[in-house]
Amino acid sequence: MKSYLFSGRSFKLACLSFALFISPIAAETLQGGGEIYEINCQGCHMADGKGDKGAGVYPALANNVKLSSVSTTMEIVTNGLNGMPSFREYLTDEEILEVVNYIRVSFGNSFKDVAQLTDIPKN
Ligand code: HEC
Repeated sequence: MKSYLFSGRSFKLACLSFALFISPIAAETLQGGGEIYEINCQGCHMADGKGDKGAGVYPALANNVKLSSVSTTMEIVTNGLNGMPSFREYLTDEEILEVVNYIRVSFGNSFKDVAQLTDIPKN
């Protein structure tokens, strides 16, 4: 599976962990999360996070209390749910973490607790 040894990632990971440790979320992390959102999520959840009301299929992430739960949000993004694709195979753990932390403080959401790599479900 994924090995962080000798990949240069361990250093990035250490920096990210430190940035999250000293929260609030580092600006860099949020910017990264925003880019990941644009590429992977906004096609369905829209640029403003309000979802696709016309079809009524893609729920709004904006002002969504369901995102208050780190574990629920992580579970849905990592493993998918019905029409929501699983991102486990498409994004690295760090990217999942960044996009989850991004959506939880964007689009009118302002949850104070910061998700950690250890919140990513193992399977
Ligand atoms: C192909 C369309 C599609 C893409 C791309 C997509 N989603 Fe979703 N998403 C959905 C659908 C459909 C649901 C509703 C699943 C259900 O409840 O049955 C959903 C639900 C969610 C939920 C739960 C919201 C709620 O109120 O239940 C979150 C959080 C979420 N998506 C985040 C993301 C993130 C973050 C990304 C990008 C990494 C993303 N989604 C990409 C279609 C998509």
